[in-house]
Amino acid sequence: MTFAASNPKKEIRVNAFSLHSLVHHSPGMWRHPRDRSLEYNTLDYWVDLAKTLERGLIDSLFMADSIGVNDVHGGNLDTALRHGAQVPKQDPLMSLSAMAYATRDLGLCVTSNANHEPPYVFARRMSTLDHLTRGRIGWNIVTGFARSSVKVLGKDQVASRDERYDIADEYMDVVYKLWESSWEDGASVRDTATGVFADPSKVHRVDHEGKYFRVQGIHMTEPSPQRTPVLFQAGSSARGQRFAGRHAEGIYLSGPSKKVLTPVVAGTRAEAVKAGRDARDIQFFTMATIITGRTTREARDKYEDYRRYVTPEAALAMFSGWTGIDFSTYDPDEPIRYMQLDAGTSSALEGFTRLDPERIWTVRELALHNAIGGRGPVFIGAPNEVADALEDWVDETDIDGFNLSYAVTPEAYEDFAELIVPELQARGRYKTRYATGTLREKLGGRSGLLNERHPGAAFRR
Ligand SMILES: Cc1cc2nc3c(=O)[nH]c(=O)nc-3n(C[C@H](O)[C@H](O)[C@H](O)COP(=O)(O)O)c2cc1C
Repeated sequence: MTFAASNPKKEIRVNAFSLHSLVHHSPGMWRHPRDRSLEYNTLDYWVDLAKTLERGLIDSLFMADSIGVNDVHGGNLDTALRHGAQVPKQDPLMSLSAMAYATRDLGLCVTSNANHEPPYVFARRMSTLDHLTRGRIGWNIVTGFARSSVKVLGKDQVASRDERYDIADEYMDVVYKLWESSWEDGASVRDTATGVFADPSKVHRVDHEGKYFRVQGIHMTEPSPQRTPVLFQAGSSARGQRFAGRHAEGIYLSGPSKKVLTPVVAGTRAEAVKAGRDARDIQFFTMATIITGRTTREARDKYEDYRRYVTPEAALAMFSGWTGIDFSTYDPDEPIRYMQLDAGTSSALEGFTRLDPERIWTVRELALHNAIGGRGPVFIGAPNEVADALEDWVDETDIDGFNLSYAVTPEAYEDFAELIVPELQARGRYKTRYATGTLREKLGGRSGLLNERHPGAAFRR
């Protein structure tokens, strides 16, 4: 299969990557005097952040989320709690309306697990948000991996990876039916003269009877600007790629080197083609952290300053949570080896093992690397050096852009807006203003709706 060559000068897209928690990917950094992470439970923090992101013409804020806590490390929660390592963690949906109200163009993408909440309830909430934000909502579809999530949700065990994706496939059918087929275009008449709000002949009952879900009734909200939110996905196992090839419009990736991304990008594009879509119907964003200053020296000094605050033990507790492997039992100088995971995030482990076998990571190195910015690369340098690296990653791996993690927040995004954006714009690699329309249109879609090749479009009347 040959794909259309990617445009060598394609515009680089950037999302900001965050979590409604004290710590996302930089444990310990909340103690830094310029960091505002301790305000994670205030609207002021989130609204200020959203405005900063919009100043940097960032495409969207991607809010990670999961039910469950990092309790694998040492077999308990102590390390995670002591360092606030993604616990406590709040519901990311609550602050979105406020952020939307304070901005005009920023996309707002939230993570929700297709194995947790009933699809009917979730579909209504997303439609509501898509209305309130005038079509700026995206959904990162995840299938869950923490054993602790299963316990609090009253289930006995984690379903196998394949079954979790099977459940998610059926979940998608249900939400497509609700979003795309229940209310025809023009069903809400809103006619003040006749007093008719909706035309009952254009509002249809969904009748879904499947293996995992039974839903009968109309969608409770009228169609929102995008109907289906922009769909993102972040799994990269073979089954994950198949799921993504069918449903995703954007993929979130992670990996410490270019080498580990290329096969995942190519594999998922191939899955899209197998599902009857175009290889270019999916955009790829990889996790990265930028530490920059006006000069190389300034950037390196910043990095050295940040390093004084990191908590590698907490980073290890988080990595143990993602993979399900208790790294507290390892010698710090022991090399990390690949093993088959059913409950964990395979891409997290693969990126540090078999996808780049020439690079052997020890537990100590992994902890230090993950303590600033997480599982992606850290670009440290003056704006021209960082821009070189960003261009290089996009051009070599065929990704479309980045999810910017932070070391210190909101400093990382202020620096991006002030220093990196003008550099990328001067190279013709970054927008100078937002496109008009919904999030899907801003990301290059021809309309606010799923395109005609997407399986969700088949549910339309
Ligand atoms: C960049 C990135 C972000 C992710 N964000 C989340 C998240 O917010 N919540 C979650 O439950 N899983 C998240 N995941 C995990 C994936 O959704 C997926 O469940 C996991 O990778 C296991 O699937 P796989 O075996 O197909 O890779 C993320 C993964 C990556 C690579």
